[in-house]
Amino acid sequence: MSSLEKADKLRNLREQAYAGGGEVRIEKQHAQGKLTARERINLLLDEESFEEFDMLVMHRSTSFGLDKKKVPGDGVVTGYGTIDGRLVYIFAHDFTVLGGSLSETFAEKIIKVMDMAATNGAPLIGLNDSGGARIQEGIESLAGYGDIFLKNVLYSGVVPQISAILGPCAGGAVYSPAITDFTIMVKNTSYMFVTGPNVVKAVTGEDVTKEQLGGPAIHAKRSGVCSLVCEDEQEALGLIRKLVSYMPQNNMEDPLVMSCTDPPDRMEMWLDEYVPDNPNKPYEMRTIIEAVVDDEEFLEIHQMFAPNIIIGFARMKGRSVGMIANQPSYLAGVLDNDASVKAARFIRFCDSFNIPLVTFVDVPGFMPGTVQEYGGIIRNGAKLLFAYAEATVPKITIITRKAYGGAYDVMSSKHIRTDINYAWPTAEIAVMGPGGAVEIIFRHEIMEAEDKVARKKELIEQYREKFANPYDAASRGYIDDVIIPSNTRFRIIKALEMLAGKRQSIPPKKHGNIPL
Ligand code: HXC
Repeated sequence: MSSLEKADKLRNLREQAYAGGGEVRIEKQHAQGKLTARERINLLLDEESFEEFDMLVMHRSTSFGLDKKKVPGDGVVTGYGTIDGRLVYIFAHDFTVLGGSLSETFAEKIIKVMDMAATNGAPLIGLNDSGGARIQEGIESLAGYGDIFLKNVLYSGVVPQISAILGPCAGGAVYSPAITDFTIMVKNTSYMFVTGPNVVKAVTGEDVTKEQLGGPAIHAKRSGVCSLVCEDEQEALGLIRKLVSYMPQNNMEDPLVMSCTDPPDRMEMWLDEYVPDNPNKPYEMRTIIEAVVDDEEFLEIHQMFAPNIIIGFARMKGRSVGMIANQPSYLAGVLDNDASVKAARFIRFCDSFNIPLVTFVDVPGFMPGTVQEYGGIIRNGAKLLFAYAEATVPKITIITRKAYGGAYDVMSSKHIRTDINYAWPTAEIAVMGPGGAVEIIFRHEIMEAEDKVARKKELIEQYREKFANPYDAASRGYIDDVIIPSNTRFRIIKALEMLAGKRQSIPPKKHGNIPL
């Protein structure tokens, strides 16, 4: 064979790889509002930055006619590139090749980039669009999934791992994303389920659509599997670029400090009267977060799941921070099962990747009642406590209003080694809310009073006067300072700068035993 012919052979193989499952299947993909694997990669990465591995890998199976269905690349495109000039590793399932189903060789390709991401310390991004294990292949594909899950676990906390779900993901294809740090879904085209509607019907008799079983609305609102929902793939890929900008490349590095034009000492005078005088009146905590961060830019995660707690990324004088905040305008910001788990996992992500935590507190306590108790509020609330206590990144807390009971302790209090604890003058820090407190400690007195309602009101006022303020806590140093709300941005930035060199550790151990 001449050199020319040899070059032609390579060109031909590459063309076959680029063609994937062929024109018809690519058109079907486009007709469904989906892009191909390579189109997605090109949109996600900096222009011309993608370098592909293993384009010529082919599966080794012969069962059920698979020997006649070989496509170079075997249904997954893998390699590396850059996002804003920073290295990332990537794999993208190609649904046009055997439904993006995972074979032994397909898994080997993914594992190669996972290993490289961990060895070279750069984020791993998975673009998922797969029918799960390649059914014709059998045990090899199951083994492939097992090998991927192991690497997901081993590299958790070593490099950031981000998953986009850009089509139907079934069977084994859902567990790898579930282990990764963030999962992004797209309306109308992405689904995640362990078994599809047909299997559900056969096993449980339940009639359910793909959307009802595992669409973005379900996973964003109810199961909490989905971190971010997008209108289309372009938005999803743009969000991945934004998400990684808040993160360091790996656990040995700090996040980039970006240049910042927003004045660090910007005062927001309206904050001084933002918290309503009536303690039962809700207000929007997101407004406070946006007011204090750089350029009002807040990337909220899990917005629809447990809205009584807010989590997300922002910058303060260019430094990445992880924000956690009770939301008084939803269930009064109470801590329940979902809110506790949502915040705990986010705190652990930030702590793994050296992202400081800023916590805004307005919490009436843990949600009482059988639903929460049966659902494990003791176990789940303990997860949040565990995550905060274990975290060694800089931690700053601002109590805007209520910090009652166990929830005071849990929400990044001084007692679980938070570095800087501030309160606004409107803060109420006490064992419990005044109403509940007087019912217990003055029950007899209220019962014996001539005008029970008036006496109770009077006692509530007395209790509020004594405890529902920040000064008792400040007199003991549990609150480092009571700050003027309008100056909150400046005070947080000063604290973050002061804590930039923080070094703290936990006692040597294999790992703790978080109450899962
Ligand atoms: C091999 C598959 C496949 C699979 C799809 N295809 N899934 N091939 N193995 N798992 C092929 C189809 O045969 C078809 O080939 C092409 O991909 C497109 O599939 P369609 O069904 O035409 O597409 P669509 O209508 O969009 O439906 C997509 C789907 C459906 C919802 C994903 O294909 C489906 O239900 N697939 C099976 C899902 C599943 O049950 N997976 C579990 C596997 S077991 P042609 O040649 O016609 O284009 C598993 C266990 C792992 O994953 C557990 C580890 C813990």
